Amino acid sequence: MTQADRLLELLYDRGEDHFALGELGGTMGLDRAKLQDALEVLRGRGHALELDPAYGVRLTRPFKLDAHLIERDLQTQRIGRSVICFDEVDSTNDVALDSAAQEGSDGLVVLADSQRRGRGRMGRTWISPHRANILMSVLLIDAGCELAHEALTIAAGLSVAEGIELACGVEPTLKWPNDVLLDDEKVAGVLIELRSISEKRAFAVGIGINVNAFPARDGVDFPATSLADHVHASVRRTEVVRAVLRRLDRWTEQIAENRLEELHADWVSRCGMLNQRIAVECDSRRCVGRVVDVSPLDGLILSCDDGRTIHLPSQRSTILPE
Ligand code: BTN
Repeated sequence: MTQADRLLELLYDRGEDHFALGELGGTMGLDRAKLQDALEVLRGRGHALELDPAYGVRLTRPFKLDAHLIERDLQTQRIGRSVICFDEVDSTNDVALDSAAQEGSDGLVVLADSQRRGRGRMGRTWISPHRANILMSVLLIDAGCELAHEALTIAAGLSVAEGIELACGVEPTLKWPNDVLLDDEKVAGVLIELRSISEKRAFAVGIGINVNAFPARDGVDFPATSLADHVHASVRRTEVVRAVLRRLDRWTEQIAENRLEELHADWVSRCGMLNQRIAVECDSRRCVGRVVDVSPLDGLILSCDDGRTIHLPSQRSTILPE
């Protein structure tokens, strides 16, 4: 580990508190000049530092996302062995998919503090102010068709809900296929995009989580909220990212082994839609009926008013406003 990485860990783990320079130098075994060099390296990596002559040094809020802090002791099998954090990109999904041809890119995590052309589901845009929220894509390379698209779609939303709960203590619910809600307002969304690359399928699991900011009511078709509005302590984006990656790693492993029962049960237990009457548009057709179930392989199961029971695949369906 580099000295700058170790320094970052120490400062990050202190949170709001300052670290006295003498104590910091002592902990790292560095004299004052070497410590200043390491602090400069952190500044060069984009970390803002507050130096107080009486108290010492601390990271300035909001903390910048840093690959080292996300990868540190992550304990995942597949996801997050490699993490890249950008200041600004067009879309993290594009960066992930563009990396798919590179050797060893399976499980790559791409994060950005802002996106110039962030995309949402069904051709919508995804807007997020600089450094306020989580904009992340996970690249999964599927060599042997072991990753069922529909299962991955619901697993991504479930992982986000679980990760938020683990990191922040609030209990999000799910709206099919993968909207994550707090008190019936959208706090996170998922956009999965697929590209074929020499006989393999590359999935970009794009995740947007409103941590500190959310779009105004007139800019969206569903009311939105942020974690900051529901969690009483300050939310560290790094901790939410790590918790989501761990859950997604676990569900991806189960999907690859075709073990879908637990995914189904855990998804349904967070979903308030069962038995509700809804309207859905699928392939430009409107269907109205009662939600019977969510299948990890076939999508939403709807008992229609005309007596038919239909399966709605998430990639082609959208729930219409009431
Ligand atoms: C939705 O419409 O609910 C899905 C929103 C997904 C947004 C994320 S942000 C990171 C990734 N990059 C994108 O361009 N979109 C996804």
